[in-house]
Amino acid sequence: MKIDVLLGLQWGDEGKGKIVDVLTPKYDIIARFQGGPNAGHTLEFNEIKHVLHTIPSGIFRENSINIIGNGVVIDPVILLEEIIKAEKIGAKIKSNLLISKKATLIMPTHRLLDHAYEKAKGNDKIGTTNKGIGPAYTDKIARMSLKIGDIFKNNFKEKYNIAKEYHLKLLKTFDYLEIEENYEKKWFEAIKLLEGYQCIDSEIFINNSILENKKILAEGAQGTMLDIDFGTYPFVTSSNTITCGVCSGLGVAPQKIGEVFGICKAYCTRVGSGPFPTKLTNETGKKMQDQGHEFGSTTGRPRDCGWLDLVALKYAIMIDGVTQLILTKVDVLNNFDIIKVGIAYKVNNEILDHFPYELNDDVEVVYKEFKGWNCELENCKSFVDLPIELKKYLQFIESETKVMVKYLSVGADRKQTIELNRNGKLTDEE
Ligand code: GDP
Ligand code: IMO
Ligand code: MG
Repeated sequence: MKIDVLLGLQWGDEGKGKIVDVLTPKYDIIARFQGGPNAGHTLEFNEIKHVLHTIPSGIFRENSINIIGNGVVIDPVILLEEIIKAEKIGAKIKSNLLISKKATLIMPTHRLLDHAYEKAKGNDKIGTTNKGIGPAYTDKIARMSLKIGDIFKNNFKEKYNIAKEYHLKLLKTFDYLEIEENYEKKWFEAIKLLEGYQCIDSEIFINNSILENKKILAEGAQGTMLDIDFGTYPFVTSSNTITCGVCSGLGVAPQKIGEVFGICKAYCTRVGSGPFPTKLTNETGKKMQDQGHEFGSTTGRPRDCGWLDLVALKYAIMIDGVTQLILTKVDVLNNFDIIKVGIAYKVNNEILDHFPYELNDDVEVVYKEFKGWNCELENCKSFVDLPIELKKYLQFIESETKVMVKYLSVGADRKQTIELNRNGKLTDEE
């Protein structure tokens, strides 16, 4: 048995949480492999909306085991809040959530450092989620992190104090000591309570589960264009959001990777700073933002919107080895007369058909226009029911990316998902 992967192909918020929840009944185990509380994964069912930050999105399905892998950074305060909320609505956290002993702890001082570094950057700030992600991963690489497994050791407080002292020295050099009242107290209380949940050697559990033919889905956070190595550096997050992150973030070998579901919106969004070639600053962008309710699930910040960018998408598909595409928020484009797709970049009048290292404001995007479908998709249950204009839009994406679209998401609810079964063939012209 191999482990399947579902990850974002754009700048995050592609609808990963919703689709993982939809796919969970097909799997025994859902495992997060990177990121932390910078993620906000939304799922909706029975007219209730849930936002998860650290817990995998399979948690509301009774029979699924959910793993927070070694590649994840955990803020105990945020994780505990999530646990309490999920338990209130019936999720069986004590039995169904497993936490890697090798997962890294985000300390209260990491949050302060995140703020301090952003402030110091001034106009060049990244626009982070301010959850301490960058500083926590920095300490991991610098070999001075506290791990979940450390909370059971006698010298935990001692190790904590050594790291804290070091952080306070750094904060002084930034002239930034705006300590969050009570956060440290809440942090230790949360650590105490987390001791009561299942903390395990998750890489052993996962590899044994593969041998036992269990079906596993790895759930990504953020998106490929925010990857630390291949994203729009430095305006990225601090982890490998891409398929290779599954190997290091869960402890599975590359040959154990099966299907790679790449998820993207039918348009693009981005929150925080950094290049966004197809961004629309006009009424059309505003319309997408309104109709797609494009406001951050974690920070509430408005997300910039723009047309689908095939140059970036093809790059992401290449890096991730995507085998199936999932297109979300298709309904948001239901009443656009013209729909555009970015097919190439132009710099100094020269066409670039690949994603360049230097992506400055002088990049011009070449677009292809499509006629909008101008109708609701509520009654579409399969590929044949789709309006012809949408079929053409899909056909173009498939022919350009050479990957089939397997699912369409046409609303936030679990039920608003269309599986496009077409016997393995790319869409034919009608
Ligand atoms: P994630 O971070 O990739 O899990 O995505 P987010 O949850 O941050 O953002 C996606 C937003 O779009 C959430 O508010 C979802 O409830 C919503 N959503 C997901 N799929 C669809 C869809 O197909 N149509 C619409 N209209 N909303 C969707
Ligand atoms: P999900 O999993 C969208 C962005 C931030 C910022 C940059 C670095 O919900 O798709 P960080 O706090 O990670 O140091 O911020 O990355 N960012 C996200 N944008 N969705 C996310 O997660 C994000 N997580 C981080 O806005 O630009
Ligand atoms: Mg999100």
